Amino acid sequence: MTTRKKTDAGLQPGSPDTVRLNRFLSMCGVASRRKADEMIAAGLVSVNGAIMTKLGTTVRPQRDRVFVNGKEVAHVDAPVYLVMNKPKDTITTMHDERGRATVMDLVHARKRVFPIGRLDRNTTGVLLFTNDGAFANALMHPRSEIPKAYLVTCDKAVEREHMVQLRNGIRLDKKMTAPADVVPIPGSRGKEVGITIHEGWNRQVRRMFESFGYDVRKLDRVAYGPITKEGLPRGATRPLTPREIRQLKTLAGIERE
Ligand code: URA
Repeated sequence: MTTRKKTDAGLQPGSPDTVRLNRFLSMCGVASRRKADEMIAAGLVSVNGAIMTKLGTTVRPQRDRVFVNGKEVAHVDAPVYLVMNKPKDTITTMHDERGRATVMDLVHARKRVFPIGRLDRNTTGVLLFTNDGAFANALMHPRSEIPKAYLVTCDKAVEREHMVQLRNGIRLDKKMTAPADVVPIPGSRGKEVGITIHEGWNRQVRRMFESFGYDVRKLDRVAYGPITKEGLPRGATRPLTPREIRQLKTLAGIERE
């Protein structure tokens, strides 16, 4: 591994998903905090390819790659939780036989993670990843009814009567969709609609609009429960904060408030 001499990687001390490097090393069983400080000062520790000699350096355990003497350190017990702002033209799969771009090409996590549910190839926006199977299953279970908010852009103005029907629930594949929140977006000449649904059926939002004869030109997931893509550029990924993880676990019924 090549290393550059650097003392600051632009990490944010004090933010909720960071931890001091000496603490991280002790959590991983490498050394006591005092001994870890000695190793840091001696230039034996690198973070994301940069040697860290400054005591008090912080790391993001879910994201940063820490090496001691060139060997990667892993906090084996810590599950990983990420959110991506998915770009268009990426497939939600671990691997595509036809070599097309997948969301996995964009995830750079310390551990092998998988997407929670899926977004269509040309749907953009909030997509979660984890390596915590129980967490993923709980979120995807129909019982959890996690609200998912989408911004839909149609080829023509969506009629008021259709919005009313979408709000009440419509028949798709012999099943009724649950009541949805549906709001027209001001200034879009009726072509843009915000919709929040509580299920996650295959191509559900597209099919809901297509059933009334609309062509969905753009579909962007703006929120998954409390998680938004605010401040996250398209194609970028960030770790969920401990607060966000707790909120999702509460929503999924695997942690009490
Ligand atoms: N509904 C759809 O139609 N497509 C998605 O990608 C997500 C929800």
